[in-house]
Amino acid sequence: MATLPGPRSLPLVGHSLELRKDPTGFLVRTRQECGDMARISVGWIPVVLAFHPDQVRQILVENHKSFIKSRGVRLTNLILGNGLLTAEGATHRRHRKLIQPAFQKRRIEAYAPDIRQCTSNTTSRWKDGQPLDLHLEMMRLALNVATRSLFNADVEKEAPEVGQALDRAMADFNKVVSNPLGRLLVKLPTPVGLRFRAARRKLDRIVYRIINERKKNPGDRGDFLSILFSSSDEMGSMSEKQIRDEAMTIFLAGHETTANALTWSLYLISEHPDFALKLREELRGLPEIIEPSVELPLTRALFAESMRLYPPVWAIGREAIEDVTIGAHKFEKGTTFLLSPYVTHRHPDFWEHPEEFRPERWLDSREVNSQPRFRYFPFGGGPRICIGEPFAWMEGVMVLAQILRRWRFEILEEPSINALVTLRPANGLKARPVRL
Ligand code: HEM
Repeated sequence: MATLPGPRSLPLVGHSLELRKDPTGFLVRTRQECGDMARISVGWIPVVLAFHPDQVRQILVENHKSFIKSRGVRLTNLILGNGLLTAEGATHRRHRKLIQPAFQKRRIEAYAPDIRQCTSNTTSRWKDGQPLDLHLEMMRLALNVATRSLFNADVEKEAPEVGQALDRAMADFNKVVSNPLGRLLVKLPTPVGLRFRAARRKLDRIVYRIINERKKNPGDRGDFLSILFSSSDEMGSMSEKQIRDEAMTIFLAGHETTANALTWSLYLISEHPDFALKLREELRGLPEIIEPSVELPLTRALFAESMRLYPPVWAIGREAIEDVTIGAHKFEKGTTFLLSPYVTHRHPDFWEHPEEFRPERWLDSREVNSQPRFRYFPFGGGPRICIGEPFAWMEGVMVLAQILRRWRFEILEEPSINALVTLRPANGLKARPVRL
């Protein structure tokens, strides 16, 4: 690792300041200056950046057994507990197998009426010409979709509380990750620790309310929560704590990411009126009820291109649990790796006009199947690939189609990126909706 190039750093803090101030810009500059594999440090902890798609494939797929999730991801267990996102080894394999049925195609398609209903509820509140925050709207919409479809529960009233708790936890999370003593910072009665625990209590209250309501009225509703309650294998059924952790993981992972992808999609289409005209042509004449089976290539291309330019999960971390060779380099057990869909998705060796919004690239099958496969990985890859990917695609395309057939938006303030746990617009997305 010592032979890898890296940008100049300060003693003790390393690149923590750059990572806190402008993480995506810093990573892009590091690739430009140092190449596809570079070395940085978070405090005194060295981190290897791997930007080449082949390195991504080696880490996520071919050598996945040599890795666990990195310290940054492990820290999310302060809120999520030991759910699917953070669990490792046998526990992860067991829970993934138990939960997978909730994300089968047949189950997912049954969530379509909830998606339609939640989208109508959202747009029915909009007034022609009256400014709103599209990011806030998409967060509430995606939260309602996730809780209605996966938990058969209503959190409409608690949505602002969830949003606030998440905003707090995420703003502090960057401080926790970029500090090698971060876990201690949260455990002690520091301001960060107190805020973090308050956010966790708030989210716990909501998730436990949903779980307890279901306990009072058990039975198979065909949703994710039914599967959690009924799932059992030779090792028995899930404990109360395991159900809480899995429910919290899906509750948060299932809406925040999709909301960001939807927000960036609405921003991009509003800034590209020529493409918007073409897309509206695709939506013209569709029946009132848009079924998930309807092919909408342009709407899908918009969602895909939005996740290329603004991947909601902009960084993926891993730690080697044994010595491992990636590319031409050997690394010792304990080495931390950071992959970045944000950087790889804009890599000029693998994309034509990487910085430009060109959704048409997704209509050309040669381009779609173009290699290497891991030049595009908004949902990760290998055994830890996002379990909700098919759900996210269905929700993304259905929501965009339903909104864009009736509305266009004037963006009132250029958004800047805030790369926290996910990639969000820094101050929301202020826009004026115009009814078509
Ligand atoms: C556009 C939307 C979404 C994006 C971009 C996204 C992205 C990702 C990525 C990159 C990972 C892998 C992280 C890693 O390897 O360390 C992941 C994992 C995960 N995602 Fe998503 N996700 C999205 C939507 C969803 C939805 C809708 C759900 C659930 C309803 C969900 C649940 C999960 C879970 C449980 C994991 C952990 C899987 C495992 O480790 O076995 N995600 N997601």
